[in-house]
Amino acid sequence: MSPTADGRVTLSIDGQTATVPAGSTILEAARQSGGAIPTICFHDYCTANALCRICVVEVEGARVLLPACVARVSEGMSVRTRSERVDRSRKTILEMLDSAVDLAEAPEIQAFISEYGADRERFPEAEKRAAAPIDDNPMYIRDYAKCILCWRCVQVCAEDAQYTYALSFSDRGFATQIATFFDRPMPATTCVFCGQCVGVCPTGALKPKREWLLEQGMTPDEIQQVTRAERRKKRT
Ligand code: SF4
Ligand code: FES
Repeated sequence: MSPTADGRVTLSIDGQTATVPAGSTILEAARQSGGAIPTICFHDYCTANALCRICVVEVEGARVLLPACVARVSEGMSVRTRSERVDRSRKTILEMLDSAVDLAEAPEIQAFISEYGADRERFPEAEKRAAAPIDDNPMYIRDYAKCILCWRCVQVCAEDAQYTYALSFSDRGFATQIATFFDRPMPATTCVFCGQCVGVCPTGALKPKREWLLEQGMTPDEIQQVTRAERRKKRT
């Protein structure tokens, strides 16, 4: 069925009727009607790419679970945001993420792990990402052992915000990693140190340098000396 003449669509979300603008995503419709669907890769100011799949929902008549952050509503659609199948899928995604990535500084994901009862020992043989933190500039560090490949940093560095294109990715499969082009140190790239990538990172993989140095046990005076010296070096 098509939208009504006023361009709105009526659907059912967890048994409640919702009327939303045609073209809305299921996530937007659920939010408008007060429902909560978990998200990880999705960010309100980034283009949704449906990478993590934590937002999957059950849509009547659909063969597979649909990612609510990109799937669009249609007239008469019936959506279930929680079901045995949805919860099992979310739990497995969380268990796989937890088995491969250091999520110690990802509070939102930690909360989902508790909510969905994810078994943190489910994949004991899994290989963890183990890259050492990259400390190559005075403004922020990149600790890809904590990276979940949500792509937000790449997107805000490109068309979603900054149009700087300093970040991309390297390798394939498990070895995929966010990287600069040709793995150049950040000061040798187009990076303007706007900090937007740090702002959207949900896991602490990107962190202000001063915060990181504090965690390493440096005093504020020592940190000032280090970062000032590094900034002077960049100007020369
Ligand atoms: S560094 Fe952070 S923002 Fe970038 S992809 Fe990894 S987790 Fe996402
Ligand atoms: S939040 Fe929808 S796929 Fe990640």
